[in-house]
Amino acid sequence: MQIQWYPGHMAKARRMLEENLKLIDVVVELVDARAPLATRNPDFDALFSQKSRVILLNKSDLASAEQTKKWIEYYKAQNINAIAFVSASSAKRKAAVSLIEAAAADKVAKMKEKGVIKTVRAMVVGIPNVGKSTFINRIAGETKAKVGDKPGVTKGKQWVKVSPYLELMDTPGLLWPKLENEALAKHLAYIGSINDDIMDAERLAADMLCELMAICPDALKERYKKIEDGMATHELLEAVARSRGFILQGGVMDTERAARIVLDEFRAGRIAKITLESPDKEY
Ligand code: G4P
Repeated sequence: MQIQWYPGHMAKARRMLEENLKLIDVVVELVDARAPLATRNPDFDALFSQKSRVILLNKSDLASAEQTKKWIEYYKAQNINAIAFVSASSAKRKAAVSLIEAAAADKVAKMKEKGVIKTVRAMVVGIPNVGKSTFINRIAGETKAKVGDKPGVTKGKQWVKVSPYLELMDTPGLLWPKLENEALAKHLAYIGSINDDIMDAERLAADMLCELMAICPDALKERYKKIEDGMATHELLEAVARSRGFILQGGVMDTERAARIVLDEFRAGRIAKITLESPDKEY
């Protein structure tokens, strides 16, 4: 996946999002449960202040269940309902539909008083790679048939009927993450949301190992047996190389190969179910 940071693209995506916002009742924000802060553009709060919102902590299959619960409580304290979600599975489809419908319940009730049965319209938003397209495909499920263009809707815009009273815009609202905070930008890189080619993989993997030693040292030591408490950042990557027998001629550790392996294994959830950010911490 490649993120292209062209200001023109960003401005266009934002304009589209703002136009589409006028057409919908509920904003469904997807964040990556492994890094809910890094994957949530801080502009969301201002952009969606006039809308009912729900948050899906997606890819929760890769995150710590305990931390995901904490994040749900954190959003609740801000009056935003959130749930743990896995776009890649259909297990929680119903829960997501109920959550979205509930977010529009007041509006639906008001219309009902006027004798109108309202169809709730929702739009999925999020930064690249959080699983927006997977979510739309999942939630559309068997009811893949699309609702035709409606009056007042820009030509070509499609609505997917999700339940008798809920329609979802088939194009997600795309926003770019902010990279100003270095700690959070690194989290985006660890989870694979920034193109690896533009980064020094060894530095990235070493920094990630260092952070993981503070979050889940036992899981790390279990997976890479040569890792020990108290190791310096550069020693951690060498320990991974030693654990896997990645040794070059002359006994030099192949830390480049170790870096690739560590990043791949983290992203695939093979080290443990890990959340990089906690709502109790400052970043
Ligand atoms: P986007 O529209 O927000 O950019 O994200 P998209 O749906 O394209 O998903 C990005 C990647 O995240 C995809 O993997 C997708 O399979 C994966 N993904 C989405 N939801 C989940 C989830 O709940 N759990 C897990 N573990 N992964 C999820 P990819 O490697 O880019 O493609 P592929 O492996 O599907 O071919």
